[in-house]
Amino acid sequence: MGQDGAGGAHYVGRPEVTVKYAQTLDGRIATKTGSSQWISGEASLKLAHELRAAHDAVLVGIGTVLRDNPRLTVRLAAGTDPLRVVADSRARTPPDSHVLKLASNRTVVAIGTAAPRERVEALRERGSRVIVVQTCQDGSLELGDLLARLAGLGVRSVLVEGGARIVTSLLRAGLVSRLVICIAPKVVGAGIEAVGDLRIRELADALTFSNVETRRLGDDLIFDGRLTPR
Ligand SMILES: NC(=O)c1ccc[n+]([C@@H]2O[C@H](COP(=O)([O-])OP(=O)(O)OC[C@H]3O[C@@H](n4cnc5c(N)ncnc54)[C@H](OP(=O)(O)O)[C@@H]3O)[C@@H](O)[C@H]2O)c1
Repeated sequence: MGQDGAGGAHYVGRPEVTVKYAQTLDGRIATKTGSSQWISGEASLKLAHELRAAHDAVLVGIGTVLRDNPRLTVRLAAGTDPLRVVADSRARTPPDSHVLKLASNRTVVAIGTAAPRERVEALRERGSRVIVVQTCQDGSLELGDLLARLAGLGVRSVLVEGGARIVTSLLRAGLVSRLVICIAPKVVGAGIEAVGDLRIRELADALTFSNVETRRLGDDLIFDGRLTPR
């Protein structure tokens, strides 16, 4: 990554995207009320921190910031904190959220062109970097453009830690290289499904993987595979 990852050398190309989440046996990343802390066990949490340390940036959707208020720092492993990125088209990141309170100059809030100006100013006042990203027709961020903008900040690798909507959009757009799933021996029934509609209607069109590794980590099962390019 270029220098401090938030203004250093320009990286030409698109960063490699790893998606990581914890799910129950029945494929939920949270209960119906949005409760997800913690689905996986301690060893899997440590793995999450190792993955953070191994990536230039960690990205979450604003839904995850609003629900979980994550720090997105490296605490349970050796290594430095990645740049933190929030996909937040309407600039709703709360000023008192951890990502804006902890080393906010290492936080990038990616907003859309129509974000209210006063909320954008509030983000800047907190010291975070605000980048304006192209939007899709529904107002969500165009994620290819977001990744290109992160490349422009010197980011070569991005760890996406959810939630479901941002993961679904990235998978649907074919922007994910690697998927790491911590599968916990729990069942919650109705809840937030890990991946939403990918517009796949035939099984033959399912996403598939190569270089798959599976292992036990505490009580969890870890799936780690590279998506087969389409
Ligand atoms: N088990 C796990 O590993 C795990 C990990 C993370 C989160 N979670 C859980 O997941 C839930 C949150 O997930 P979520 O799906 O509601 O929220 P999310 O994916 O974190 O955030 C979704 C929001 O991101 C913004 N966004 C901007 N551009 C987008 C795009 N192109 N595609 C999709 N979203 C875009 C949208 O809000 P705007 O329109 O306002 O920009 C959208 O509503 C929480 O319950 C949390 O606890 C679980």
